[in-house]
Parts: sequence; C-alpha cells; structure tokens
Amino acid sequence: MKRKEFLGKACPVLVLAMMNSPLLISCTKEPDPEPKGDDPSDLIGESGFYYSDNTLMVHIDNANFSELKSSGSFVNHLPQGVLILRKDATTVLAFDNCCPHQGTTNRWTFNGSNFRCNNHGNSYGIGSGSVANCNSNTIMGNLKQFGASLEGNIITVTF
Ligand code: FES
Repeated sequence: MKRKEFLGKACPVLVLAMMNSPLLISCTKEPDPEPKGDDPSDLIGESGFYYSDNTLMVHIDNANFSELKSSGSFVNHLPQGVLILRKDATTVLAFDNCCPHQGTTNRWTFNGSNFRCNNHGNSYGIGSGSVANCNSNTIMGNLKQFGASLEGNIITVTF
C-alpha cells in the first residue's frame, strides 16, 4: 500500500501518533442517530396515511379520515383504491373500490349493509364468499375484501 493511500485509510489517531503529535482524537465514528421508535404512527404524515409494502396505515384523527370515527361511515381512499368502512366501535373492514360492474371507483355510497355504485346503481355486499371482482361485468355479490384492523387511532389495511 502506498503512503498516500495508507494515510487516507488509516485511523487518524494512528497517523498522529506516528507523527509524534500530541493531539488525541477518537477513531470511532459519531454514533448513529437514535433510530425511530417502533410506533407505526411515526410514519404517517400530514396527509393522514402511509403506504408501503402492500400495507396502508391511516390515522383517524386526521381530517382526511375522521369519518372513520363513526360507525357505519366509510372513506374511499383513491390512492390505494380502497373503501375503508368503520363497521362498529371495534371493527373496520376494507374493500376494493373498483366496481365489479364496469370498474368505476368513485361513485360509492353505503346504506348500512351494502355499497352501492351510483354509476349504474348496482349494490354489492360486505360479506365473504361470492366475491365479485373488479370490472368483471358482475352486478351482484360481495366486494373483494382486504385485511383490516384498528389499533388505537390507527387503521391498518393489508392488500
Ligand atoms: S360501474 Fe358501477 S354500477 Fe356500473
């Protein structure tokens, strides 16, 4: 190894010691900043949601999602194409917002038991089984469901 290359790679304290310098400095790097906590809500920004790796987290205290504090209310979250329904005090459900009829995503209403797409007026259930898939020209059945859970004020949807 050439002298210049050695000096570039060697610990500064060794180099100074070799040069009979009275300076004493540490060879260790500054410690990395404290890692963020494990609280997933740390990742949620001003928009009220965070999406990564097929997981969506929303904060119901955020104005964009505050409807989800009330049972029977829903939010149509267009960026990830999901209808999030607050079923009751402890239960949330999540569904594909793509209408099984012709794929409309933004004309939904909820009547307490079914979602209705107001593009052509077809209604779809929130149960399991008989899944009506996106844009399949289906006029009955249940919407495709995703995993959803509520923990504190955070709803997590898993696609
Ligand atoms: S596209 Fe939804 S009912 Fe026709």
